Amino acid sequence: MKFGHFDDEAREYVIETPRTPLPWINYLGCNDFFGLFSNTAGGYDFYKDAKLMRLTRYRYNNVPYDTGGRYYYIKDGDTVWNPGWQPVQTELDFYECRHGMGYSVITGKKNGLSASLLAFVPLNDTCEVNSITLNNESSDTKTIDLFSFIEFCLWNAEDDCTNFQRNFSTGEVEVIGSRIYHKTEYRERRNHYAVYACNRDIDGFDTDRASFTGFYNGLHNPEVVFNGESKNTEAHGWSPIGSHHLKLSLAPGEETKVVFVLAYCENPVEKKFEAPNVINKEPANSILSKFMTDEQVDAAFNELKDYWNSLLSVYNLESSSAKLNRCVNIWNQYQCMVTFNMSRSASYFESGMGRGMGFRDSSQDLLGFVHLIPARARERILDIANTQFPDGSAYHQYQPLTKTGNLGVGSGFNDDPMWLIAGTAAYIRETGDFTILDEMCDFDNKKELAAPLMEHLRRSFNYIVTHKGPHDLPLIGRADWNDCLNLNCFSETPGESFQTTGPSEGPVAESVFIAGLFVKYGKEYADLCKHIGLDDEAAKCLEEVAKMEKAIEKDGWDGEWFIRAYDANSNPVGSHECEEGKIFIEPQGMCIMGGVGIENGMATKALESVEKHLDSQYGIMLNQPAYTKYYLNLGEISSYPPGYKENAGIFCHNNPWIACAETEVGHGDRAFEVYKKTNPIFLEDIGEIHRTEPYVYCQMVAGKDAPTFGEGKNSWLTGTAAWTFTTVSQYILGIKPDLDGLRVDPCVPSDVDSYRITRKFRGKTYNIIVQNPNHVQKGVSEMTVDGTPVSGNLIDPELGGDSVEVTVVMG
Ligand code: GLC
Ligand code: GLC
Repeated sequence: MKFGHFDDEAREYVIETPRTPLPWINYLGCNDFFGLFSNTAGGYDFYKDAKLMRLTRYRYNNVPYDTGGRYYYIKDGDTVWNPGWQPVQTELDFYECRHGMGYSVITGKKNGLSASLLAFVPLNDTCEVNSITLNNESSDTKTIDLFSFIEFCLWNAEDDCTNFQRNFSTGEVEVIGSRIYHKTEYRERRNHYAVYACNRDIDGFDTDRASFTGFYNGLHNPEVVFNGESKNTEAHGWSPIGSHHLKLSLAPGEETKVVFVLAYCENPVEKKFEAPNVINKEPANSILSKFMTDEQVDAAFNELKDYWNSLLSVYNLESSSAKLNRCVNIWNQYQCMVTFNMSRSASYFESGMGRGMGFRDSSQDLLGFVHLIPARARERILDIANTQFPDGSAYHQYQPLTKTGNLGVGSGFNDDPMWLIAGTAAYIRETGDFTILDEMCDFDNKKELAAPLMEHLRRSFNYIVTHKGPHDLPLIGRADWNDCLNLNCFSETPGESFQTTGPSEGPVAESVFIAGLFVKYGKEYADLCKHIGLDDEAAKCLEEVAKMEKAIEKDGWDGEWFIRAYDANSNPVGSHECEEGKIFIEPQGMCIMGGVGIENGMATKALESVEKHLDSQYGIMLNQPAYTKYYLNLGEISSYPPGYKENAGIFCHNNPWIACAETEVGHGDRAFEVYKKTNPIFLEDIGEIHRTEPYVYCQMVAGKDAPTFGEGKNSWLTGTAAWTFTTVSQYILGIKPDLDGLRVDPCVPSDVDSYRITRKFRGKTYNIIVQNPNHVQKGVSEMTVDGTPVSGNLIDPELGGDSVEVTVVMG
């Protein structure tokens, strides 16, 4: 069942009912200010950091679902309704929500009145703009009351929902004209406040939540709205809100617009107040002055649209599949931007309070983002490197506002170091900018320990070399990519963190996945060494890589697939010897991507085993058979009911690794089949089963052991975005940035005739036509650059002018 449709021309998904199986959300904001925005206008805003700088309140896990948002109430006679249906839930005569690139438009119609809410965060300002267009489509004059509503969060989101004995006494506001200032904690250590403004004179306001709703009422039946009269309340403690009241009259056919802006404002310490405890409004005036007229709002909105037009022109595919084009050209790249901005911090499944930026997560997000805005990728790489420890290990997470490592989680996730190499190498392949390797980066955020980025990568590499176990395979530490395979944890007490309980370093438990990761990115590190003239180091690294390959082939091979790990007692995990969890997806994908077993047939064997034991209608499951009981020696993985999350769920993040691995052995048909299975756009028709947004990937789809097989969860913030984009753009369609130029190396289904890709790369635009007259799956037989045949499949960056025509014939 579908709940909407794609409008590719507008780059929008159009939701046709507010009753989607889950809230289907969008992200507003590209740089510092962000909003989560659901199809019923739910969600919240924050500045830079969803935990420390939250502007509006949102109630996770509430009933009804999705409570809190920017709500606009219309009282038209006795009927009260919201354009986005929530929270009053009055049946609408028409409803539509369009989620676009960094903006959303919700339109509701009731009794001849149309109300359309456009919400976006302007490119370079720290605010959310809400422009409401009201249109009287009836033949009578309409006299209505319009009420706005947001609820302020007292900045620190965690504190906000735990520390009530304090919070109920700290809330403070100021109201001047149509502007509501939220200034809780401003009298003390905060130099920032929020302002919620309307561009018209208002007929009333409220800032005290209980007065607005009535103490025992809710947002679905607020007293003020139903009575049609604001109380002009000023919040003192309790729960400050912002609500404006406008009485409007519209002649038949008349249209009018009202603009509301929620902004984040900061003052220098010495200029905080204009009078005792009266905040300095200068920054608010300056930002609000940019969005007070409809023309200004239109201009800012167009600027945002132009921005996205330009970003999405970097990689553009024209193929015979509309679904593929849509995914590659629009939604997958869009999600890559969102994961780059959010890492795993704030979604409808991540409260924004727990995890900030992940060392491994953000490094991987770069793979799908770097072509969009290389300069921001560069900055991110340096931020991540700053949190690395001097021995090459890393804080697993860091806080986006402070950019310092999270002590609570600490380090010991032994795959982390290699991902920094992955992200950096991707950046250099995209840009050719080797100077990044000379940038000085702190260790452990300590300036005095700073060293060039290249030294950071070296220590990443060496960390693995110097942390091996009894089989000469890398020690796993707290966990590797799979946060839930906790081989050194042994937790018997409920509530303990599987990730931080137990020693961070067991001297025995080893990961074959990290071994594969080391082989893949160790080779990339050696390439970097070679390119900057460190030939000896490159050669030594390759020796280490070769040793690791041997160790994998010797002790990481189970006969028909790669073993997953060795536990703290040196017993294999993911082997036919195990009672459950005999085979895992991760080492099959990563080892083969690193090239392990391609020559000797292990790779094809392993991929056959994946297809035989792990594949399902909705994608490849993480492991099989699922764990049916809790294993002390395995940790969190066995805590999940069979079929969910890391316990035999279809973890979308590593499905593309199998697709990539299939391309390494030339299986274009199978690679594309794997690619399609988890692709949300190909699942649009089964929305009632899949349930999460059909325009973005989710982290996990329930596996066949789960009662809800096929159900998606944890949409948006997942490494799946970057990895599927890498897979389809580089491994399948075959446009691979290389240190020496652009390489064209497709591996496609044999029924593909041809396709065309426009790729902007290092200042030039390449128009690439790939033809497949003999219907092969892999291989390039001819290539011409501007009509001249060239040998091989690498385009020399020196060839051609600003626009280069490339023809590639497969065969
Ligand atoms: C989550 C984490 C990621 C981890 C994955 C598998 O998506 O964000 O870091 O690799 O789960 O456990
Ligand atoms: C939980 C999740 C896992 C995630 C981890 C991050 O264990 O199940 O997916 O990676 O938290 O700490």
